[in-house]
Amino acid sequence: MNPVEVQSLSKVFETKEGPLFRKVPKSLVAVDAIDFSVPKGEIFGLLGPNGAGKTTTIKMLCTLITPTSGDAYVSGFSVMKDQQKVRENLGVMLTGERTLYWKLTGRENLEYFAALYHMESSYAKKRIEELLELVGLKDREGTLIENYSTGMRVRLSFAKALLNEAPVLLFDEPTASLDPQSSRLIRDIIRDLKNKGHAIILTTHNMEEADVLSDRVAIIDHGKIVMLGPPSELKEKVKSSDIIEIEARNLSENAAEALQSFSEVSNVAVSALDPSEDRGLLRVHAEKGKEVLPKILEFLVRKQISITKVSFIQPTLEDVFIAQTGRSLRD
Ligand SMILES: Nc1ncnc2c1ncn2[C@@H]1O[C@H](COP(=O)(O)OP(=O)(O)OP(=O)(O)O)[C@@H](O)[C@H]1O
Ligand SMILES: [Mg+2]
Repeated sequence: MNPVEVQSLSKVFETKEGPLFRKVPKSLVAVDAIDFSVPKGEIFGLLGPNGAGKTTTIKMLCTLITPTSGDAYVSGFSVMKDQQKVRENLGVMLTGERTLYWKLTGRENLEYFAALYHMESSYAKKRIEELLELVGLKDREGTLIENYSTGMRVRLSFAKALLNEAPVLLFDEPTASLDPQSSRLIRDIIRDLKNKGHAIILTTHNMEEADVLSDRVAIIDHGKIVMLGPPSELKEKVKSSDIIEIEARNLSENAAEALQSFSEVSNVAVSALDPSEDRGLLRVHAEKGKEVLPKILEFLVRKQISITKVSFIQPTLEDVFIAQTGRSLRD
């Protein structure tokens, strides 16, 4: 059995929606019967837009949320039946949550969690020293978490996930809100952990990150895995089209949709580049791109769209997502 086995795992949230006093119950399928497994020494990326179900999946794996149906196994232990054993085999980093104690310093937080994990004290001391060094917080170990910057908190949460050297590591958006230099540091550490044999699951909506870091990626949308495989293989699937990227002002959804009627065009997706300046990015998947490009440009100009840049690009995981769903990842 692999360190992580996910079998037909689902989560349905029962919520209430509507105006005050007229709320009606509603079921929301956040994760819809997903299957995957992660072997030792693999980085498995969960890539998808906001609300796709990535965090919910991670939370079910670490027993914070009870699945509605299906099951998942961590080091062979069921998240439905053996929650305690599951937690012992996991190192977890969640985002957007107060998982650290704000009135304690960075070092005190790690000491607190080491005690919680019943780590032997001289070993814990050595490990904490190592980790503070690793994430570049040695010189800020005495600062209260409430006085940390967001990026410092992210790095300390990351260190916390590594404390107990668990075989399975779950990182929810490990580089969100980090500067490029800290992001690179965290990515290097994650690669190193993979080489040491950990099974690693990370979520991201950053396709470049999923691409460079993951051995395999599951692209998730509306709770379903729509594609799964090594990034290079997924990108190979969209190679049959040319991909034209057009940067423009005054882009409208309508204009983009109209392009879809061109017979050579298989997919079009728009995303905002800078909403305040009304700058957008249009991505067109087309057969014989060089031949249709003049037609496309002429069409856009006629629609009063001012084009600032046109390029032919190599497919990215974004294009895999567009080809599969007809939408952009960065909605
Ligand atoms: N506790 C909850 N109660 C009700 N609905 C929830 C709850 N948690 C999540 N959801 C809903 O489940 C869906 C999936 O959310 P989830 O947090 O898993 O998305 P995500 O892929 O992590 O997105 P993001 O990229 O924004 O972090 C969303 O529609 C969300 O609103
Ligand atoms: Mg999330």
